[in-house]
This record gives sequence, C-alpha cells and structure tokens, in this order.
Amino acid sequence: MKVGYGFHEEACGDSAMKGEPLPTLLTHWFRISVSFLFLVGELLLLSGVIVLLRLVGGCPEMCRCHSSSHSVDCRRQGLAEVPLDLPPQTLTLHLQDNQIRQLPAFAFRAVPQLRTLNLWNNSLSHLAPGVFHGLQHLQVLNLTQNSLHSLESRLFHSLPQLRELDLSSNNISHLPASLGRPWENLTVFAVQQNQLQQLDRALLESMPSVRLLFLKDNLWKCNCHLLSLKLWLETFIYKGGVTDGVICASPDTWKGEDLLKIPHELYQPCPFPSPDVGSSRGQQLGSAHQPVPGPPESHSARERDPSECELKPKPRPANLRHTVATIITTGVVCGIVCLMMLTAAIYGCTYAAVTAQHHGGHLARTNEPGKMEGKELCDSSPA
Ligand SMILES: *[C@@H]1O[C@H](CO)[C@@H](O)[C@H](O)[C@H]1NC(C)=O
Ligand SMILES: *[C@@H]1O[C@H](CO)[C@@H](O)[C@H](O)[C@H]1NC(C)=O
Ligand SMILES: *[C@@H]1O[C@H](CO)[C@@H](O)[C@H](O)[C@H]1NC(C)=O
Repeated sequence: MKVGYGFHEEACGDSAMKGEPLPTLLTHWFRISVSFLFLVGELLLLSGVIVLLRLVGGCPEMCRCHSSSHSVDCRRQGLAEVPLDLPPQTLTLHLQDNQIRQLPAFAFRAVPQLRTLNLWNNSLSHLAPGVFHGLQHLQVLNLTQNSLHSLESRLFHSLPQLRELDLSSNNISHLPASLGRPWENLTVFAVQQNQLQQLDRALLESMPSVRLLFLKDNLWKCNCHLLSLKLWLETFIYKGGVTDGVICASPDTWKGEDLLKIPHELYQPCPFPSPDVGSSRGQQLGSAHQPVPGPPESHSARERDPSECELKPKPRPANLRHTVATIITTGVVCGIVCLMMLTAAIYGCTYAAVTAQHHGGHLARTNEPGKMEGKELCDSSPA
C-alpha cells in the first residue's frame, strides 16, 4: 500500500505538475535559463582566462619562447608575417631565415619592450614609414640579407635608442642626407655590400657616437663629391673610429683603390658654381693618369702644371732685387777703380813734376815734347 501510495504520490506529483498553473511553469523555465546563462558565462570566462594566459605567458605556435631571457625564437619557420601573439615583455625577437616580404605600420606594437630585433635573411624590399613605431627601446636592428632599396628617412624618430643598425647585403643605392636629429647612441652602422655610390657626410655627422662603420663592397664613385666623405673618415679614424674602408668602383683611375689612401693633392674638390663640371673635370684629370697611381710626386708635378704658370711671376721681385744689387755693386767697384786711377794719376803727375824740377835744365833741353805731354796729361786727367 505504502509503496503503492508512494508511487501514487509520485504519479500524483507528476500529474500535479502537469496540472500546475502557468506562472509557476514560467518561474521554472526562468530558473533553467538563468542557470544556462551562468554556464555560458562561466565558459566565456574560462576561455577568456585561457586567452589571457596565452597572451601573458604564452608563445606563438611557430616559435620557441625562453621566459628567463624574454627572447622569442621564430627563425626558419617559413613565416610571411610577424606572429600575432608575441609575449608583450619580449626583449629579443629572432625572425631571421623567414620569408617576410613586407611589414605593416606598427608591426611590432605587441612587443614595446623589444631591445633586439633580428630580421636578417628575409625578403623585405621596402620599409613603410612607421614600421618600427612603438619600439622606443630598440637597441639592435639587424636587416642584413634582405632586398631593401632605401632607408626610411624618419627611422630615427621611431628608434631613438638604437645602438647598432645593420643594413649590409641589401640593394641600397641611396641613403638620406639627414635623419632630422642626431642619432646620439648609434655606435655601429653597417651598409657594406650594397649599391651605394655616394654617402652624404651629413648622415655620418648625425651619428656622433659611431665607432664602427662598415662601408666595403659598394659602388663608390670616387669623384669630387666623395671628398667630404674622405675628409670625414680621416677625422673619424684619427679619433679612434674603425672602418673597413671605401674601395672605389669608379672612375677607372681609382678603381680598386681605397679612398683613404688616395693622396690629397690628387683629389680635386668640386668647383663651387657647377658641381657637374667639377666631376667631369675630375674624371678627365683621372683618365690622364695611369690606372695604378705611381709615386705621388710625379702626379703632383703633373697636376700642378697649370698653377706653375700663375706662380712664375712670383720670382720677379727677387730678380729685380738681384739686378739692383748687381748695379750697385758694379757702381761701387767702378767708383773705387776710378778713384784709384785718379789717385795714381795725381801721384804720377806730382812725381813727374818733382822729378822735372830736380833735373830742370837738362831735361828741359833734351825732352821738351815729353814734358809737354806730361803737363797736358796732368791738366786733362782731373777733368
Ligand atoms: C635564408 O633563409 C632560408 C629560409 O628562408 C634558408 O633556406 C637559407 O639557408 C637561409 N640562408 C642563409 C645564408 O642562412
Ligand atoms: C647581423 O646578423 C649578421 C648575420 O648573423 C651578423 O653577421 C651581424 O654581425 C649582425 N649585425 C649586428 C650589428 O649584430
Ligand atoms: C642614449 O643612451 C643613454 C644611456 O643609455 C640614455 O640615457 C639616453 O636617453 C639615450 N639617448 C636617446 C636619444 O635615447
């Protein structure tokens, strides 16, 4: 009976529920919905925590992250772009040996603490302005072995703390003359193995701390326009800077020569009014010489030919002085000789007169014409 009752009760309860009024049913549904929403919320929260965990301590799928050194290594992964979910406290990012062709502006905004960025051996051909925006602390930027044609002229403003900039093994044919402000902490600047023909001295002057300068293997055109670079480099080396040298690729005269070893007297500055004329003149002068320069003296002698013509009038005052001196000397000597002759004549005449008086009559009788001649000589000689 009891069981039967209970069963009945259950059945009764079931039937009672079915028979419940509408408001009660709604409350029940409401409860179910609320608990479902709670579940969904919990799930969302959980996934949010997972995402957050990935962002904070996580690592991009293709990379290896070293939490102790805060470095992320994504090399040789065939990447075409910068991974999105980089840990924000990353200090060193290795992206070398990938296939990154271009970078958007703010490409590294996820890693504002970055100190070292390695992008060598990628396929970058152009750096859009603002690529490195937000990297206020970047100290080393390695862009070797890409296909860059130029350097972003406002690079300094993005990377004020940069210490080492490596742009070697690219296709850079031109560098901006100015970066706006001095890059005061830049100590290493490398542009070897590019297509550079010229380098504005102003660019180097905007790196007052630079100590290592890699310039080799470019297409340096050693004409008058490169003189300022030569002079700057001489001062740079004198002050203890180190460079691998500027090897001329043209003109033929200086091909293969180190710009720093070309004697100064052979290196013509550009004439002021028209620099084009200057460069062609420089080349003409260059082609006049042998390809391999001999001793500097022979060159300088040839080089100075035109100026010698201008210098020739200079000895004139010396010659004039010499002539005047000669005339004076001659005059003095002549005067002395004349005086001596006069003295001799006077002495001779006096002696003759005295002698004549001594042998008075005898001489007067036998030698009258001789006496007469002597008298005449004495009268004429003082005159
Ligand atoms: C450059 O990266 C490619 C992969 O993108 C790799 O195969 C090649 O060996 C790398 N070159 C050098 C010189 O490391
Ligand atoms: C940039 O990377 C190349 C290749 O590893 C290396 O030889 C060069 O020293 C690096 N440059 C700097 C400034 O660290
Ligand atoms: C250069 O480095 C010094 C010392 O690390 C730093 O105080 C200074 O702010 C840096 N200069 C610039 C322009 O960031």
